[in-house]
Amino acid sequence: QEILLFDSVDSTNNYSKKIAKDAIHGTVVIGEEQTGGRGRLGRNWSSPKGEGIWMSIILKPSIPPTEGMKMTQIAAASVCKAIREAAGVEGYIKWPNDIVVGGKKVCGILTEMAGELNKIDYLIVGIGINVNNQSFPEEFKDIATSLTIEKGKKIDRKTLIACILKEFETLYQHYIDRRTLDETLEIIRLYSAVLGKTVRIIKGEQELKGRVLEINDEGLLKVQLEDGKEELLVSGEVSI
Ligand code: BTN
Repeated sequence: QEILLFDSVDSTNNYSKKIAKDAIHGTVVIGEEQTGGRGRLGRNWSSPKGEGIWMSIILKPSIPPTEGMKMTQIAAASVCKAIREAAGVEGYIKWPNDIVVGGKKVCGILTEMAGELNKIDYLIVGIGINVNNQSFPEEFKDIATSLTIEKGKKIDRKTLIACILKEFETLYQHYIDRRTLDETLEIIRLYSAVLGKTVRIIKGEQELKGRVLEINDEGLLKVQLEDGKEELLVSGEVSI
């Protein structure tokens, strides 16, 4: 495995994309700071120097593109377990790809894929964790937090990265060998921030409201809408 560490990089996902073709499977790109960190839905991702873990994992699995989103769930489960074990912070997974503590976001995941209809060339799993931030700009105060704020003391990023990568490797390998997400889903269900809750979901142009019935064996969210109908979601923006 190769780990590339940068003092400053525009975005570890962008850099990973640039090198992906020649990079070996499992390459990890880490930036002390990102000058152009990207979030989902074209948003910016604030990535100040030394305050977080801004990293991407380059993967080259032989799976169809439709299975790509499972990597996001493997990453979410790994981060959630690692912050509990290595940082002692009680994180929950807000399906499909956020980790929250006390309702505020500490981690976001941005998975990007390249390939054709039936074959993935490479997958980039971008993980952003607010670790040592002491405060947030006004506009994020109510929605974002850091591990340090929650724990009340500094968290060692190296230990946490090692723990995340170890978890990721275990869950990823289990999935590749057995083609089941069961170990990942066990964590996702155990630490779910949405199971059984009434949530609002933005799905494309639509806004839905309903109760989360289950996260099925494919990792899809089963919701009972207000009119009683059930809907299975592959992705979406969920608010509790
Ligand atoms: C989100 O919740 O919107 C996803 C945020 C993903 C941020 C990470 S930080 C490392 C990687 N590089 C990026 O530019 N984005 C991801």
